[in-house]
Amino acid sequence: MDVLGIDVGGSGIKGAPVNIKTGELLAERVRIKTPKKAEPGPVAKVAAEIAASFNWRGPIGIGFPAPIKHGVVMMAANISQKWVGMDADKLFTNITGNSCKVGNDADVAGFAEMKFGAGKGNSGTVIMITLGTGIGTAIFYNGHLLPNTEFGHLDMDGKDAEHRAADSVREQENLSWKKYAKRLNAYLNQMEKLFWPDLFIIGGGVSKQHDKFIPLLDVHSKVVPAQFQNEAGIVGAALFTQGS
Ligand code: BGC
Repeated sequence: MDVLGIDVGGSGIKGAPVNIKTGELLAERVRIKTPKKAEPGPVAKVAAEIAASFNWRGPIGIGFPAPIKHGVVMMAANISQKWVGMDADKLFTNITGNSCKVGNDADVAGFAEMKFGAGKGNSGTVIMITLGTGIGTAIFYNGHLLPNTEFGHLDMDGKDAEHRAADSVREQENLSWKKYAKRLNAYLNQMEKLFWPDLFIIGGGVSKQHDKFIPLLDVHSKVVPAQFQNEAGIVGAALFTQGS
C-alpha cells in the first residue's frame, strides 16, 4: 500500500509517496521551505501543495515537530504558539482533502528506523535522537514506542539541551566538528545516565555527515547513524498512518 509521507521541519517541509511494505520512496521527494513563523494556515497550505504535486488521493502521514496527542498539538517550541491545542489531524485533512494522521516527528522517524533501518531486529532499549532545528527523541523498548518523549528539552548548562546541541546551533555558532561532538557527547551522556540504552540512533540532516562526529563520541552505548538519514521522517510518517 502506498501512503504519502510528509515531514514538517523547522527549515523545510518534505514529502514523497512511500511503499509502506518496503519503506521505499516511490518518487523523488519534494521540499518546500517552511513558511516564516511556521503558523498553522501557511504550513498546512505547503502540505497541500506537496500533496497536489503528486496528484495525491489517499492517506497521508505527517511528522510534526511537537508532542501530539490524538492529533492535537500539545506544545510549541520551534513553531508558532498558534498550534497549541489545535487538532492538526483535522486541519491537514480539511486542507488536503485526504485523510491525514499527524505524529511527533522523532517518534515517526524512529518507527522507520526500527522497522526498516538501523534499529531493525533490536530488542532492549533503543533511543532515536534527531538533530535538526531542535532535538527530538523517541524511546523504544523491545520495539514498542513510549510516545511523545521530549528529552530535547533536558537541562544542559542551564539551557534547553536543544539550544546547546541541536544541529541548528552548530550552524549558528559555526562550531567545529570537534566542539560539536563535545556538546553532543555531554547530551548523550546525560541521556545514557537516565536510560542506559542498548543503542542510540542519530538522525536528522546532520546524520549524513556522521563520520565527522560519531567517531569522536565517548558513550558506553552503541551509537549509529540513522540508515534513512534525513528521509526517516518521510518514511516514518507514512508508516504511522498504520498505527503505532
Ligand atoms: C519539540 C519536539 C520535536 C523536536 C524535533 C522539539 O523542540 O519539542 O516535539 O520532536 O523539537 O523537531
